[in-house]
Amino acid sequence: MELSRPMTISTTSPREGLETNYEEHKQTWAGGLHRVLCMQGGDDDGSYAKNSEAPASAITLSKPLLLTAIQSLNLKLFSRIEEEKDCCIRIADLGCATGYNTLATIDMVVECLRKKYIHECGVEPEFEAFFSDLPSNDFNSLFRSLPAATTRHYYAAGVPGSFYGRLFPKRKLHVAVSLSALNWLSQIPDAVLDKRSAAWNKGRVWIHGAKKEVVEAYAKQSEEDLENFLRCRKEEIVHGGILFMLMGGRPGFQQPENQLGDPDSSAKHPFATSMDQAWQDLLKMTKRRETGSIFRNI
Ligand SMILES: C[S@@+](CC[C@H](N)C(=O)[O-])C[C@H]1O[C@@H](n2cnc3c(N)ncnc32)[C@H](O)[C@@H]1O
Repeated sequence: MELSRPMTISTTSPREGLETNYEEHKQTWAGGLHRVLCMQGGDDDGSYAKNSEAPASAITLSKPLLLTAIQSLNLKLFSRIEEEKDCCIRIADLGCATGYNTLATIDMVVECLRKKYIHECGVEPEFEAFFSDLPSNDFNSLFRSLPAATTRHYYAAGVPGSFYGRLFPKRKLHVAVSLSALNWLSQIPDAVLDKRSAAWNKGRVWIHGAKKEVVEAYAKQSEEDLENFLRCRKEEIVHGGILFMLMGGRPGFQQPENQLGDPDSSAKHPFATSMDQAWQDLLKMTKRRETGSIFRNI
């Protein structure tokens, strides 16, 4: 993960400690994460485009479900295509990032719908695909990797913004997908960042091994976020359209504070501790800089 652009960490003098930095940046972590966080752009070895096999396999596994949902669409419900020769079907990928996954997903949805239209209505509609992600996403790379206009069956557009708010006018979309993106919260819950709160997570960036209050604060945030997401999509998707959400989960029997599915996981899986260590190192870096700092490559 990358913090998208050089983030000026104000004019903190090196004599001021981590404490000051923490208080200053709490504001960003709590409310402004969507402005700075994004997947690593470009297409070099460290880019998301070259490191997205895990979400790719999740998409492959869920593909039959998505295709079945599309096949079950009642086309007459949301388009009178026989009468409206200029009918356009609009599809959105919410949290698209960059690279193959989003391109392949849009392609799959368009192809499936195109064949269904030809088969059931004898006509081929036009398609508009909206690639949507946070403004910090590398849309330039994404657009550079689009197939040539002559070979794809859709018009493409980018929609920058958070999917926890409205992104489209009312009843605009016929199919909206969000793949491996809704596990991102809109913000770090305030209580987790508040040293006076029982849910204070001691500056850690990882919920694993945290106490009950921390877990509850994250769960509450997650619930609020998901509700906002659904409320917005309800407005934007046409009657009879599809919202397809793919997100990570854990079995009910597994405690939420045990994120790695193994009671002894901190010892066995260095990931959780590495994440914390990386965060602490970044904080130290900001402390050392005289007038500013750049967060990169978390
Ligand atoms: C792991 S990537 C998944 C990308 C792609 N869907 C895939 O399956 O490969 C998660 C994406 O969700 C985006 N994202 C996170 N929070 C978001 C939000 N509030 N609104 C829009 N996009 C968001 C991130 O910027 C990131 O590009």
